[in-house]
Amino acid sequence: MANIAIMGYGTVGSGVVDVLRINQALINQRAEEEINIKYVLDLREFPGDPVEQVLIHDFEQIVNDPEVEIVVEVMGGIEPAYTFVKRCLLAGKSAVTSNKALVASHGTELLSIAKEQKVNFLFEASVGGGIPIIRNLKECLTADRIEEVTGILNGTTNYMMTKMFYDGADYEEVLKEAQDKGYAESNPEADVEGQDACRKIAILSSIITGKEVDFEEIHTEGITKITKEDMMYAKEMRMTIKLLASAKRQNDQVCAMVSPVLLGQEHPLYSVNDVFNAIFVRGNVLGDAMFYGSGAGKLPTASAVMVDVIEAVKHKSENIMAVWTEEQAQLIPRSDTTKRYFVRIKGKQEELQERLIREFGKITFVTVQSLTEECGFITEELSEIMFERKATKFPEIIHMIRVEG
Ligand code: HSE
Repeated sequence: MANIAIMGYGTVGSGVVDVLRINQALINQRAEEEINIKYVLDLREFPGDPVEQVLIHDFEQIVNDPEVEIVVEVMGGIEPAYTFVKRCLLAGKSAVTSNKALVASHGTELLSIAKEQKVNFLFEASVGGGIPIIRNLKECLTADRIEEVTGILNGTTNYMMTKMFYDGADYEEVLKEAQDKGYAESNPEADVEGQDACRKIAILSSIITGKEVDFEEIHTEGITKITKEDMMYAKEMRMTIKLLASAKRQNDQVCAMVSPVLLGQEHPLYSVNDVFNAIFVRGNVLGDAMFYGSGAGKLPTASAVMVDVIEAVKHKSENIMAVWTEEQAQLIPRSDTTKRYFVRIKGKQEELQERLIREFGKITFVTVQSLTEECGFITEELSEIMFERKATKFPEIIHMIRVEG
C-alpha cells in the first residue's frame, strides 16, 4: 500500500479525493499498488465530510510519519508550501504539486533535492490544468529541439476574453462569473495581471531550454486594459484577443512574454475558448503540434495531480524528473523583439493619417462605425523599442495591442 498525504483541502485538494474515489480501482491497477489517503492537512474543520477521519492540522505528523511516501501539495502560494515540500523531500518523501508559483520560484532547488534524495518532485498540474504538457515536453518530444511554445495558459482570462468577445460582456461581470465557477486564483490579480500565465510559461521555458528561466525577467502584461471597444475592433479585423504566454528560442537565447495579443482566424489558438487552455509547440523536426484541454477547475487539475501520484508510486527510490539545471537561461530583452502593433488613437483618420504615415510608414487603418471619436491602425513589423519611440510622439494614443502572425 502507498500512503499519501494531501496538504490543502481546497478546490484541488478535494478534487484529488474525488478523483481517487471515482477511479480508485483503475488508479490502483495502474499504480500497481493500492493508494491510500492517510492524512489530509488543513487548518479548517470539515464536519460531516468523509475526510474528517483523516483530517489533521499539524504538518509535523506528516513529515515525521515514515509510512507517508508521497505528499500532495495543493495549498497554493509560496509559504508554507515551500517549507513543507522541502522538508518532505529532505525526509525522503516524493512531492506532487499543482502550485506554479512554488515551481517557478523554487523548482530548481526542489528538483535538485529530489534528485539527491532519489525521490521525485512532480508538477504536471502546475501548467495547463488537466493537459499533459509537462510530461509531453519532457518525455515525448525528446527527439526535438523545441523552438517555440505559445499557449493560452490561464483559464480564467480565456473565459473572460471569450465572454467579452462573443457576448460583448463587461469585464467585472465576467471576472465574477469565472471566480464563481472556481477557475480564478484566490487573488484574481494573479490571473488578470498575467502573473499566473507568467509562472506557467517560465516553467515551460525552463523545460524546453533545460535551464532555469527566471519568471521575474519575463515581460508580463495582463488583460485589465482590454475593453469592449477593443473587442469591437478585433471583430472588425476578423480577429480575436487572447492572453498569450510564449517562449521562442533564438539561438541560445529565449524570448518569453505574456501579453494580450490579436490573433487572426487562421491561428491555431484562435478558436480556443472558455476555460480551455491550449499549447502550441513547434519542434525543429516535429514541426507543429497542439495540446488542448481543460486548463483549470477542480477535477481536471486533480486528474493531473493523480497522474503524478501514480508516477511517484511506480518510481519509488528512483528519480525520474531531471528537468532543468541551475544554469540561468538568457532572455532576449523585450525591447529587441519585433512584432506588428494595433493602436487605438483619439481623432479621425483623415486628420491623423499624414502624421502617422510619416512616423510609422506603411500602416493599415481600421475603423469601427460606432466609435466616432477615434480610429485604429496596424503597423508593419517593428522592434518594441522603435515602436515606443514613435508612439511617444502621439499623446492621443489610447493603447496598443500586439498582433501575432
Ligand atoms: N487560475 C488558474 C487559471 C487556475 O485560471 O488558469 C489553473 O492554474
